[in-house]
Amino acid sequence: MPRRRRPVTVLVYRPDEAERYAGLVRGPRGAVRVAVASTPAEAEPLVPEIDALWAWKFPPGLYEKAGRLAWVQAMGAGVDSVLVPELPRHVTVTRSPGIFGPWMAEYVLGWCLWVTQRMETYREAQRERRWIGSVQPERLAGRTLVVVGLGDIGRSIARAASAAGLRVVGVSRSGRAVKGVARVYRHSALARALAEGDFLALVLPLTPETRGMIGAQAIGAMRREAWLINVGRGPLVDEDALLSALRERRIAGAILDVFAVEPLPADHPFWAMENVVVTPHVSGPDLPEAIAPVFNENLARFVAGRPLRHVVDRRRGY
Ligand code: OXD
Repeated sequence: MPRRRRPVTVLVYRPDEAERYAGLVRGPRGAVRVAVASTPAEAEPLVPEIDALWAWKFPPGLYEKAGRLAWVQAMGAGVDSVLVPELPRHVTVTRSPGIFGPWMAEYVLGWCLWVTQRMETYREAQRERRWIGSVQPERLAGRTLVVVGLGDIGRSIARAASAAGLRVVGVSRSGRAVKGVARVYRHSALARALAEGDFLALVLPLTPETRGMIGAQAIGAMRREAWLINVGRGPLVDEDALLSALRERRIAGAILDVFAVEPLPADHPFWAMENVVVTPHVSGPDLPEAIAPVFNENLARFVAGRPLRHVVDRRRGY
């Protein structure tokens, strides 16, 4: 890529906190113009002038007007909402690895401990002033966690889990060995991996290949005592199949941070289920100060005409 002669125009788009993110953009002096929008109406007149986009939930319909757009940096952990059919093929998409993994690892381990330390049971008993000395916590160490998806977030979870004494089994597209993971299965051997797990952490990106991957058959391969933890994307799971398995106690329970429809509708059965924990898509929180340096480093490269880092393979979808 040749060095650019005119200033680069970047649009920072986000339905909330767009100004905060825009305030963190640092480009080479005089080489970058920053535009900010929080709604499609605000973005529409700006779009024809932009070279780069740093965005969360950008309205796909506006891509056709972005004739100069060459680069999109995803603001969140996942890129599925960026890789829409409307995005022109020549636009480079980059992601932000290394930011969300440590948070999501704490989320996964925290909820595993919530299960084994029986936190809910003790708190309930406390509310009723009952001393339940006959109920004992259990060890987390020695249990098996199956991590489905071994990208940078999955590996972070695997490292933290293995440091906590869990045995970690992985599932990835390639099936390649990963340090600290006892065994890595390919996607095609998912059921064999799931049969080993006390906990299953779903960390896959959402792609045509992974959509619905955890359906009735996969859930049927899980152990009766196993908990499913979804921090990836709602549509990875067939929610109806999961509901049946949870209602019939074919698995112990589910910790769900992501859903097919978000926010989870108020009348959804998950809310009221005793063996389901619902959290509002917070396992990898918004971290403007942490993610801005990743964007700024790529911005400097973009301005200088150097290759960008963390480029998404658009064919694979991650
Ligand atoms: C995501 C995020 O991509 O919350 O889901 O960052």
